[in-house]
Amino acid sequence: MTPYRVAGLGMLVDAGWRGLGVGDALVGAAIDATRDLGAHKLALQVWPHNDVARRLYLRHGLVEEGLLRRHYPRRNGELWDSVIMGLVLDETSPGSPF
Ligand SMILES: CC(C)(COP(=O)(O)OP(=O)(O)OC[C@H]1O[C@@H](n2cnc3c(N)ncnc32)[C@H](O)[C@@H]1OP(=O)(O)O)[C@@H](O)C(=O)NCCC(=O)NCCS
Repeated sequence: MTPYRVAGLGMLVDAGWRGLGVGDALVGAAIDATRDLGAHKLALQVWPHNDVARRLYLRHGLVEEGLLRRHYPRRNGELWDSVIMGLVLDETSPGSPF
């Protein structure tokens, strides 16, 4: 968790166990853990082409908040975009006045 109380999520399910609901259970557990930690938000980044992961996160209520364009350099010289996703758990504290 960051010092400003945003929990980060990164996940990988062993290839032989995918499509069985393990990822679904892990995201649910991560959201519960985020609440238990007292974080106000869960945040992650996902490659734009990772449709399985994006659908999984959307099913759990995360929303796509933005796109980091040409952000991550790859070994082959390509610059990949990254989708920013988040789930806000605290909608009652005051937001920015601006
Ligand atoms: C993304 C990832 C974590 C998802 O994990 P997973 O265990 O396969 O996820 P789930 O099984 O919960 O869901 C995946 C699909 O299986 C389906 N599924 C879930 N339970 C199922 C079941 N009992 N029977 C059949 N299908 C099922 C889901 O509906 C989903 O289908 P969809 O993609 O068409 O919506 C996994 O594919 C992975 O590790 N990928 C490589 C690393 C990666 O991309 N990590 C994310 C980085 S942001």
